[in-house]
Amino acid sequence: MDNQDNSNSIQIQELEKTNRILRKKLERCESERRQLETDIATKEFLLKKVICELEDSQTDLQQRGQELENTLDSLHTMQAQMIQSEKMSALGQMVAGIAHEINNPVSFIYGNLSHISQYTNDLLRLVELYHRHFPHPPAEIQTERKTIDLEFLEKDAIMVLNSINIGTERIRDIVLSLRNFSRLDEGEFKVVDIHEGIDNTLMILQHRLKATDKSPAIQIIKDYGNLSHVECCAGQINQVFMNILVNALDALEEFNAKRTYREIRDNPSSIAIRTSIVDSQWVKIAIADNGSGIPESIQKQIFNPFFTTKPVGKGTGMGMAISYQIITEKHSGKLEFFSTPGKGTEFVVQIPILHQGWEVI
Ligand SMILES: Nc1ncnc2c1ncn2[C@@H]1O[C@H](COP(=O)(O)OP(=O)(O)OP(=O)(O)O)[C@@H](O)[C@H]1O
Ligand SMILES: [Mg+2]
Repeated sequence: MDNQDNSNSIQIQELEKTNRILRKKLERCESERRQLETDIATKEFLLKKVICELEDSQTDLQQRGQELENTLDSLHTMQAQMIQSEKMSALGQMVAGIAHEINNPVSFIYGNLSHISQYTNDLLRLVELYHRHFPHPPAEIQTERKTIDLEFLEKDAIMVLNSINIGTERIRDIVLSLRNFSRLDEGEFKVVDIHEGIDNTLMILQHRLKATDKSPAIQIIKDYGNLSHVECCAGQINQVFMNILVNALDALEEFNAKRTYREIRDNPSSIAIRTSIVDSQWVKIAIADNGSGIPESIQKQIFNPFFTTKPVGKGTGMGMAISYQIITEKHSGKLEFFSTPGKGTEFVVQIPILHQGWEVI
């Protein structure tokens, strides 16, 4: 019995020992598990942080990419604007150069015209006096009188001089218009006659208004209000008129290409220019053509830089974008258009009469 008890107690002791060892192991395992859990949580936290940082930097990169794209776009636009204004200023310089070159010889002719008129009148009077006092000159003189048809010469010489005078005055007007038009680089605001700017631009475009063997002349209908004094940047406003009028002429040409001479004659191409005072602060200039019109699907894009429907090499698509900028940004005005496909298009420019006054308000 004693032996039995002894063996039991040894077994119990061993079991207790094993139990202690197991508990220790369990405790160690437990502590390792906790350590592992803490490690995992730390790693998870770090991983999440890295993911967040990666996401942030991805958004950042996307934003930078977008910014770069925007910068590229605006550089592209700026480049095109510079090309356009360079073109306009080159045109201005060329026009100013031509005006200057024509001005010298014309002044020469114009300055001498009054003298030549005076001399002709004097000579004719002298011939008349000779004739009165010597009614029967020698045969040679009589033959010469007949040959040169003196009576006709007397009448015609005066008329010839008159028409030379009218022609020279016309050339002087043209030179003046060319000079006005070439004030393109003038960046400052001045009180100008808007109508003068429109008329000068029309004069530059005269060659496109004339009749051809395919179509009669384009009618220009002017309905000018009383807005001779508007404070604006003359050169830039002329540039806007030029862009709108060239587009109108292109649209009329496009429309006429599909019509016969007869159809065009029965329903002639025209550009109507109406100017008016809106109220004490605003003036309005509307330019309407009865050309091809603008399809509704592209109407939203007209003022977008580089938007063009013209063949490669003909249009840059910058005319309206620049005009929009000149009117809305530079002149704090409005530029809009109304178009019915197949009927025509009207561009309406509205600008404040006083630039400074408006800015102060
Ligand atoms: N009066 C108009 N009638 C019909 N379409 C027009 C008219 N004015 C503008 N458009 C349309 O708007 C487009 C953009 O005009 P915009 O003047 O900006 O460029 P463009 O005339 O094509 O080229 P450019 O830079 O040489 O002027 C034209 O291509 C044309 O399709
Ligand atoms: Mg154009």
